[in-house]
Amino acid sequence: MEKQNDQSRMDRIVSLAKRRGFIFQSSEIYGGLNGFWDYGPLGVALKRNLKECWWHDMVAGHDELATLPGAPEPYEMAGLDCTIIMHPQVWKCSGHFDLFHDWLVDCRESKRRYRYDHLNGRWAAHRGKKVFVVTDQSGDEAIPHTVLRAQKFFGLRAKQVEEIEWEGGLVALAASITAGTVTLDTALGPDAAEPGTLTPPREFNLMFETRIGALAGNDDDRAFLRPETAQGIFMNFKNVLDTSRVSVPFGIAQIGKSFRNEITPRNFTFRSREFEQMEIEFFCKPADSAAWYRYWRDRRWSWYLKLGLSAGKLQLREHDADELSHYSVGTADIEYAFPFLAEGEFGELEGIAHRGDFDLRSHMEGKLVRKDGQLVVEMGADGKPRHRGSGKDLSYFDDVTRERYVPHVIEPSAGADRAVLAFLCDAYHEDEVPDEDGKPRSRTVLKLHPRLAPLKAAILPLVKKDGMPEVAIDLYRRLKAHMPCMYDEKGSIGRRYARQDEAGTPWCLTIDGQTLADSTVTLRDRDTLVQTRVPIDACVELLRERLR
Ligand code: GAP
Repeated sequence: MEKQNDQSRMDRIVSLAKRRGFIFQSSEIYGGLNGFWDYGPLGVALKRNLKECWWHDMVAGHDELATLPGAPEPYEMAGLDCTIIMHPQVWKCSGHFDLFHDWLVDCRESKRRYRYDHLNGRWAAHRGKKVFVVTDQSGDEAIPHTVLRAQKFFGLRAKQVEEIEWEGGLVALAASITAGTVTLDTALGPDAAEPGTLTPPREFNLMFETRIGALAGNDDDRAFLRPETAQGIFMNFKNVLDTSRVSVPFGIAQIGKSFRNEITPRNFTFRSREFEQMEIEFFCKPADSAAWYRYWRDRRWSWYLKLGLSAGKLQLREHDADELSHYSVGTADIEYAFPFLAEGEFGELEGIAHRGDFDLRSHMEGKLVRKDGQLVVEMGADGKPRHRGSGKDLSYFDDVTRERYVPHVIEPSAGADRAVLAFLCDAYHEDEVPDEDGKPRSRTVLKLHPRLAPLKAAILPLVKKDGMPEVAIDLYRRLKAHMPCMYDEKGSIGRRYARQDEAGTPWCLTIDGQTLADSTVTLRDRDTLVQTRVPIDACVELLRERLR
């Protein structure tokens, strides 16, 4: 049984991702840039396939005449591609300008910066000296880290760590400070030699700022890189409605880059500063919104399963009432048990939120806040709206019922990079296969769903002579017209299979002596290792059929 928290397994996945050209650190030759990642030749294909599956399954391939299982009625879907920089007022009315922040803590000694909610600690005592040892490590790494830190602080040798007396288990630093059981004077920072070096927490807005225009300098030029793609959709709600004949219920989808100046990017691509989102804003009649929320939650859950993520490692978690944003009527997260997390912990892949009419109303009326259970425009000290809305009418008129209302929104919001990471982790397997001489050989294989696999097939002449390359090249060209595939004649056939297994290629077609005699080739299946003989002229149609 595979253990969930397995840093060495995660390290091997990261190493394969680099070695085989899936993911590289950005600007690596200059030492890299924390929180930024590049996708290499295989990675870009994997990520494009993932986005293409999402776009096809949610938008392009959507049957708007059918009532899909679980859906209250048929619905339409449209696509958008909006700019990364938008009018600064967008972020003021959406709430990001005031509220999109994390709390950070600096260490005066180490000059390191931490997310306040990522710091945990526990009390340690030795020979009358006592300190609250803080760690920034998560999962199974946290406790050993506090032991090491305490050992260093008390100046002990490894065999003396047993002498340390621990009071209670690991607790959140923030909660302990609020409760008054810990003060910053007694807290030993994760990288500090002495206690008392952590600063009080302060707010840090996660939006990247930029300036527009050559005369940039005053506050009016200030703009932001979007921290989510969703707002571009709200900006164009009326444009889409007026130009594309859609009617409520309908969804608008967008895939694109988002930017967040994360305080502590970590866990490979999981928390990056530049990443891609795949978001849908689904507009519906307020009375039907609960049913649509359930539909999208279940639809998005089954999408991951159909693309092959292990059901045992996925979790659908409904937020408790105290976790919901002030405008949200309900939210569920689809989460995956990543190998870098502690046993039983899950990381978010996608959130499905019932947002009510918060977004459209905010962009009409101005930034909203909840007061006495109602969403009202937030007022400034001068008695005017704190952030003024567009004043444009974003309500919808239903021609059939003759009703006018502000549609409610269901938002399935997924991260493309997190999904790629989950599919990579899930697909990664180490097993043993017999080599050409029948001896067991260990192999690394990515069991990616064929729709996601960067290459669908490899065409391999058994030897580089006897006319085999010519037959193989001809088959390669026929297949290439229909799907990404590669021709490889370099190295032993065992090594070539191993290369394809690591790249996640589902099928290998080998041209051998028998091909020349009866025009059949060997079709090797990556996962079952079963090899079957297939007529060479049937290969293209067979693989196309399997991909369908
Ligand atoms: N419009 C709603 C929204 O943006 P979110 O939960 O903040 O919601 C949605 O983000 C998804 O975007 C997350 O579930 C995750 O997959 C992805 N995501 C968010 N922050 C990320 C980051 N720093 N790095 C990589 N992916 C991220």
